[in-house]
Amino acid sequence: MHSPAFILWFTGLSGAGKSTIAAELARELTRRGLDFEVLDGDVVRENLSKGLGFGKADRDINVRRIGWVAGTLAKHGCIAIGAAISPYRAVRDEIRAQYPRFVEVHLKVPVEVCEARDVKGLYKKARAGELTGFTGVDDPYEEPLHPEVVCETHQETVAQSAAKILHACERLGYLSPGASPVADGASGAAR
Ligand code: ADX
Repeated sequence: MHSPAFILWFTGLSGAGKSTIAAELARELTRRGLDFEVLDGDVVRENLSKGLGFGKADRDINVRRIGWVAGTLAKHGCIAIGAAISPYRAVRDEIRAQYPRFVEVHLKVPVEVCEARDVKGLYKKARAGELTGFTGVDDPYEEPLHPEVVCETHQETVAQSAAKILHACERLGYLSPGASPVADGASGAAR
């Protein structure tokens, strides 16, 4: 039986850097020999959530599914990294309440910056009215009120953001520097 791990939950607009920072963290966790899994919104929507749309009800279902899988992985010792927009605060908080070893990382980037990046060309489509209900354009994004980490990816490097997140996990007692996750209750460092 493994010690429980934890959930690292990225939230932020499309283009804020969720997948990029998750990939950077994945490199470091691999280097440390830790077991982890990235649950990326785009990938989940191609598989577990295929067929779901982007209305509030479907987004909530998608995010709850990611939360459930993440919690199950974490229970078995696998660090679960959720990387979906997850725009609604109540559902994120619901997952936090279910899985207390939850580290919320807000990728806090102005919509103008995400739009200028427009990695997938979707902001352009949304502005042109070819895509409706696009988060940050004509659909809401509710910022976290008390995230464990805030990364302003337009003002820091990917390496700096990743280091900040790792330090937070270490500070919370979920990761030992350069070692494996700390068992539940071993540190008393609950949030
Ligand atoms: S969430 O709201 O349910 O958490 P999720 O992260 O899974 O969203 O998926 C977001 C991705 O779907 C975006 O990065 C983008 O590539 C794509 N997408 C397509 N339509 C939309 C939309 N209306 N709003 C936001 N993202 C969209």
